[in-house]
Amino acid sequence: MKQIIIQGGNLLEGTIRISGAKNSAVALVPASLLSDELVKLDNIPNISDIDALNEILTFLGAKVSRKGELMEIDSSAVENKSIPESISKKLRASYYFMGALLGKYKKVEMYFPGGCSIGARPINLHLKGFEALGAKVIGEGSKYTIIADELKGGHIYLDTVSVGATINIMLAAVKATGITIIDNAAKEPEIVNVATFLNQMGAKISGAGTSQIRITGVEKLGSCYMEVIPDRIEAGTYVIAGALMGKNLKIENIIPEHIEALLTKLREMGVSLDTYDDYLTISKSDNLKPVDITTQVYPGFATDLQQPITALLTTCNGVSTLEETIYENRFQNVEYLNKLGANITIDGQKIIIDGPSKLVGKKVVATDLRAGACLILSGLTAQGETIIEEVEHILRGYENIIEKLEAVGAKIKLEEI
Ligand code: EPU
Repeated sequence: MKQIIIQGGNLLEGTIRISGAKNSAVALVPASLLSDELVKLDNIPNISDIDALNEILTFLGAKVSRKGELMEIDSSAVENKSIPESISKKLRASYYFMGALLGKYKKVEMYFPGGCSIGARPINLHLKGFEALGAKVIGEGSKYTIIADELKGGHIYLDTVSVGATINIMLAAVKATGITIIDNAAKEPEIVNVATFLNQMGAKISGAGTSQIRITGVEKLGSCYMEVIPDRIEAGTYVIAGALMGKNLKIENIIPEHIEALLTKLREMGVSLDTYDDYLTISKSDNLKPVDITTQVYPGFATDLQQPITALLTTCNGVSTLEETIYENRFQNVEYLNKLGANITIDGQKIIIDGPSKLVGKKVVATDLRAGACLILSGLTAQGETIIEEVEHILRGYENIIEKLEAVGAKIKLEEI
């Protein structure tokens, strides 16, 4: 077990460099199985979710090498085996092996994925997509066998906009015969990154980034080199840190357009920030105005930044509201923010934050990845010492978070307990 200890109250000054996007990398790594040749992925973040995917790749017989941010995957000797529950449930993104293995071998056997406990998170739309391509899905408890004699292009309408289902259906469809259309597809930048990667390997995908994606099946996918896009959620988290404690803090290697919804809200609050092509600078401002935020699919306000921004809303002068529309159980940070001294009430899928509150360090728990990020942000502002337990959740998704914050002046350390 690990815990993070923060001494709050220190200004953040200097530069934080953003790593490759977790939610892109965790799709690109399984997607590489579709190639018959060597695939090189660059800007892969060093996070434990990638280690878990490596474990699955290695279990299947792929040769994986990692040198810094470069990962090379040779899937030529892969054997399509049943993926055990113990490794499927280590993370959410293990579900991308469903699409990739089904696409390549027309059969996959694995278990329901793991991931943060922030809602029901069903995979019915992924399965519906596979069925529309001609696959048969046999579910026994948490085990799924998905099998097809032949995958044939189909027309799929997603009842709910889903990042995972959109990517998984693309993975299964790239080698199907004929044309697949995904309607009401997710438009997140990670979808575009995955489609570009598949196209570089020889796939024919158009429309990624819009609500209709068209995939024309091909027989073979080859080698390619691809860079993971910068992580917009990691970027957003450090931008919020800058709004809380920054002294001309520079956040570099970002695509500002990907966090436009966040930046718009920060400007509305009165935060002082300047954006440039691939970086921004941000400073702590006093007397921030309260705002109302509703999470939306991209390009709306990201659900993954909902918990981090709550840390900032506790410092605003007045009542802010935050409505969560994607997940049913993404307010587990509230109990701990209130323990630190915030004044937040939960009303169904909405929280009401009455600020400003002076936070004082206490012992709190990172119940999930972004809740943990929120508690780190609040710990940076709180008076005295904040101890965050169960931080394994945080290390799944933020590369070198301790080192990055320490380098700009935070007093933060990771301890084994
Ligand atoms: N949904 C269904 N059926 C499905 C799939 C999704 O009802 O078959 C519902 C979900 O329950 C949820 C909504 O659709 O209410 C959106 O879920 P989505 O499928 O988009 O989420 P996901 O693919 O499971 C990814 C990220 C999440 C991020 C969401 C939304 C990965 C591995 N995870 O999840 O990231 O919140 O998209 O942007 O890419 C995180 O990084 O902290 C995180 C949770």
